[in-house]
Amino acid sequence: MIYLTRRERFSAAHRMFRPDFSNEKNAEVYGQCSNPEWHGHNYELFVTVRGEINRELGYAMNLKKLKKIIQENVIVALDHKNINTEVDFMKGRLASTENIAIAIWEVLEPEILKEGVELHCVKITETENNYIEFYG
Ligand code: NI
Repeated sequence: MIYLTRRERFSAAHRMFRPDFSNEKNAEVYGQCSNPEWHGHNYELFVTVRGEINRELGYAMNLKKLKKIIQENVIVALDHKNINTEVDFMKGRLASTENIAIAIWEVLEPEILKEGVELHCVKITETENNYIEFYG
């Protein structure tokens, strides 16, 4: 079993809030990330897949193909967008990095399986000090 990771980047706006909380309550719970006028992050996304090495080809999955799958299904939808209002796969979800990682997993998993490998981890860094990992 071998693990391959592709890194992609996207910049996006979001706001952490619950509509059933007042602005004051949201600010208390979510702090600066609940600014009603939005704010942005330069996110880094690490997608790790696992599989057996194809002896003839020497790899478990073509990294160019992995890049294409992530770009077309995830990055195009997120980059320079408002995660709360413009991203279909985030509709109805609170725009936390945790929920973004889960949504990305759900979008990518079927595409990755078609390639004969398994999705292992979706990792997202929101700042250089904070990251989330989701293992399905
Ligand atoms: Ni934020």
